[in-house]
Amino acid sequence: MNTIRLAIIGVGNRGKHMADLAVHREWPVEIAALVDTRVSALRSGGKLFGIGKNRQFTDYRELLKHPGDYDAGIIATDVYTHKEIACDFIEAGIPIFLEKPITRTIDEAASVFKAVQASKASGIPVMVGFNLRYAPFYRHLKKLVSSGAVGELISIEWKEILSPAAWADGYCRASWYSKQDYVGGWLLEKSCHDIDQINWLAGSPCARVASFGSRNHFLPRKDLPMRCTDGCPEEPGCYFSCFKLHPDGPVREGPNKLPDYIPDNRWDLCVYNCGSDLMDRQAAILEYENGVTAAFSILPLGNHWERKMRICGTKANICGSDFLGEIHIIPHNSDTPVIADPPKAEGGHGGADPSVMDAFLHLLSDPYFSPDVTIEDGLESMLAAGGIELAREKRSVVELGPLRKKAYGK
Ligand SMILES: NC(=O)c1ccc[n+]([C@@H]2O[C@H](COP(=O)([O-])OP(=O)(O)OC[C@H]3O[C@@H](n4cnc5c(N)ncnc54)[C@H](O)[C@@H]3O)[C@@H](O)[C@H]2O)c1
Repeated sequence: MNTIRLAIIGVGNRGKHMADLAVHREWPVEIAALVDTRVSALRSGGKLFGIGKNRQFTDYRELLKHPGDYDAGIIATDVYTHKEIACDFIEAGIPIFLEKPITRTIDEAASVFKAVQASKASGIPVMVGFNLRYAPFYRHLKKLVSSGAVGELISIEWKEILSPAAWADGYCRASWYSKQDYVGGWLLEKSCHDIDQINWLAGSPCARVASFGSRNHFLPRKDLPMRCTDGCPEEPGCYFSCFKLHPDGPVREGPNKLPDYIPDNRWDLCVYNCGSDLMDRQAAILEYENGVTAAFSILPLGNHWERKMRICGTKANICGSDFLGEIHIIPHNSDTPVIADPPKAEGGHGGADPSVMDAFLHLLSDPYFSPDVTIEDGLESMLAAGGIELAREKRSVVELGPLRKKAYGK
């Protein structure tokens, strides 16, 4: 088997993780180039993967001049850059793994979809980073629902609750993650995974959505300083204290190192005074063309990261928690739940990350292989999540039919 030559575009948290996974799978993989606009990211990635400066680039377009030197690109850059980079790679004929969310807006997603469609004749493989489709927990849930464990599917209730670190580091202290304009919306950026899962379970196009959300708690506070390190009086009891989340301080190496997306001068910002303009709560309702309804909410205040769901059907309900690793089926005619826990798995995102990388490498090696997540799934998730953001802004129901027609170019 020929060595697969991968270019990593975006040598941040996710890019490095995906590169590390790729070189540890059973396929022969070489990291052939690193691209990042930050030279410090290139140098630390270069050290990690043994890549010389001659294969480190600050502009991804350098790679497009020699497309034959790369078998694929992994695009793990800030969301607002995805459209341009993805379209340019596809147009250059280089297969891609495009991290979620595929873009920031429905129009941008439609452009990527159009580029993929135009490349269909040459069969350029494209995969989207909905790794949860590869997590044993979610595969098990999907299998139960598809095999009729709940009878006919009627409705889905789903919650994503963030840990203090996910909220404070990701959506307060990170520079690009904390801005609506850069991510397209909190629910869209964070929960496009969940919307994809709901789409997958519903098994039908989403017809319409509505949503409410606001930023009402994490507002600027004059009684608190700008930083935990400025002698904040509430720091000792604060769940988001930089000292609690990063006991070794602003370090870039070791087990407690800062995530790449937090710049050095933001690691200790107050979660109230940090300047983030994202929602701090959001709820959405979705109706599918087959009549299935769904209710989804995202919240920043849990003590751990958890996704909880209740899937209701004509014969039974399924209750699950990915944090607990539990799935219970509660038949309507019995008080005794059937324990249907999924298999335990090792690896990031509940075992999803190694498997999603395997699927991508398989796809690059075998043009007849069909991955469980396609560009259409990326676009459908964007239609629903992008529609939810529009509905929240307009405070009205958004019909996805016309947006879908336009996005698919029909
Ligand atoms: N599938 C998942 O479970 C999962 C998990 C985490 C992040 N992600 C996604 O991965 C992507 C990256 O997230 P992250 O957490 O690694 O962020 P990050 O900030 O740690 O890394 C992004 C990197 O991209 C670089 N970059 C920005 N613009 C660039 C450009 N034009 N060219 C080259 N490099 C550029 C930045 O300098 C940075 O190093 C996002 O789309 C995010 O949503 C997916």
